Amino acid sequence: MHSFQRCIAPLCRATFDISEVLTGCPDCGNLLDIDYEWDKLPVPRSLREYELRWASRRNPLDFSGVWRFRDLLPFAPDKEIVTIGEGQTILQSSPKVGKYVGMNPGGLFLQYEGLNPSGSFKDNGMAAASTHARMTGAKVAACASTGNTSASLAIYASTAQLFRVVVFVGSGKIAYGKLSQALDYDAQTLQILGDFDDALERVREVAGERGIYLCNSVNPFRLEGQKTIMYRVLESLNWQVPDWIVVPGGNLGNSSAFGKAFAELKQLGLIDRIPRLAVINAAGANTLYQLYEQQGIRWDGGMSDDGAIESFFAAMDRDKRKASTLASAIEINRPVNLKKCLRALDTCDGVVRQVTDQEILDAKAQVGAGGFGCEPASAASVAGAKKLRAEGVIAPSDRVVCILTGHQLKDPDATVAYHSGNAELFAEKLGSRGVETAAYANSPIVVENNLQKIIDVLKS
Ligand code: F0G
Repeated sequence: MHSFQRCIAPLCRATFDISEVLTGCPDCGNLLDIDYEWDKLPVPRSLREYELRWASRRNPLDFSGVWRFRDLLPFAPDKEIVTIGEGQTILQSSPKVGKYVGMNPGGLFLQYEGLNPSGSFKDNGMAAASTHARMTGAKVAACASTGNTSASLAIYASTAQLFRVVVFVGSGKIAYGKLSQALDYDAQTLQILGDFDDALERVREVAGERGIYLCNSVNPFRLEGQKTIMYRVLESLNWQVPDWIVVPGGNLGNSSAFGKAFAELKQLGLIDRIPRLAVINAAGANTLYQLYEQQGIRWDGGMSDDGAIESFFAAMDRDKRKASTLASAIEINRPVNLKKCLRALDTCDGVVRQVTDQEILDAKAQVGAGGFGCEPASAASVAGAKKLRAEGVIAPSDRVVCILTGHQLKDPDATVAYHSGNAELFAEKLGSRGVETAAYANSPIVVENNLQKIIDVLKS
């Protein structure tokens, strides 16, 4: 095998065998990448060669939207690969959302990762992490989650029957659609009396202590799977590179994976330019925005100002600041992939913006009315694109791809409260969190159980 794990810190760069189960560099504590000796591997000369695999879709590895591209994440022998048919997702141009964002006709695309088996983009990463777990003979796998990671890990465990799963979720913080998945897929579910940041800290300790395989995005194999979202975007655009990729930022795994995907494609000569990356935080969970845009922290060739980052988190602890947003999937104040995301922003000449819950819910209503819909966190991408367009950072003639990370049915609470027209429900669920209006509400009409009354309503 010509793959290994490598520390991202330029002064360390220690390497480790892929058979090791690691979530950080044992030498210096930094994050790990999966790296490859590309010159010894059979890499296609053109991305177009992947189209040949469409003809052999009966092979589950060619059917999978992740493993179809397995030569770009070549860490596993074919016989070890785990797939449940992930990655059958599509990219669609959305005129309605494009108009809302302020793009020229045909300039706005939505990448629907909610179409994955468990309803979120996490399945891309979990296919890869489950494969590595199988390679290392893991008996138990675990994750902390705002909901989607747990749903994804649980579905892989129940389908593949290779390992048992325990998931840690923050108490009262998880959307019901997601909790129901973890329970239904038979994962042991621990509700930690704390938030996601607390749950992640605890699961890392427990995994270290008990030798449990950790499936959060500190697992470098997971991010290998998430690179394929970008390959599918390029595939849908007939292998043309868009101008912008816009993605919500929580634990910053996706943005990190996207940056790595483009850096590698460029290095391999498979693309001639790299798109710009916009990472969108919720205003109530805006660590990346504060560090990158307000304090000017940069990757700096791996020499980012760690002192400034540490004092940022120290002040956060001192002031007991907790993340707070209706977009519960990205309610995260301590993004574990911060460094890798800074590297991705460097690779992709990136920007970071924050959007309010009001902006997120309005954008979400537009996505629903102009497409397949999404959960609140996903709509941060559209709200962020609109903001960048208004600022003139995104030009109206650009081609912009917003990643819709999770399915509409994951978190119907906020959706119903937004559209219901029920003032009490609105005040309780949204007003209490600073949302003032529902400008795009599509409220149900209450009508008597009477034919004429119903016809009257239809006429109006
Ligand atoms: N969108 C959705 C729907 C998510 O579930 C998440 C993360 C994100 C965006 C943020 O992605 O972490 O790669 O920046 N959810 C994690 C979870 C944290 O536990 O399900 P990121």
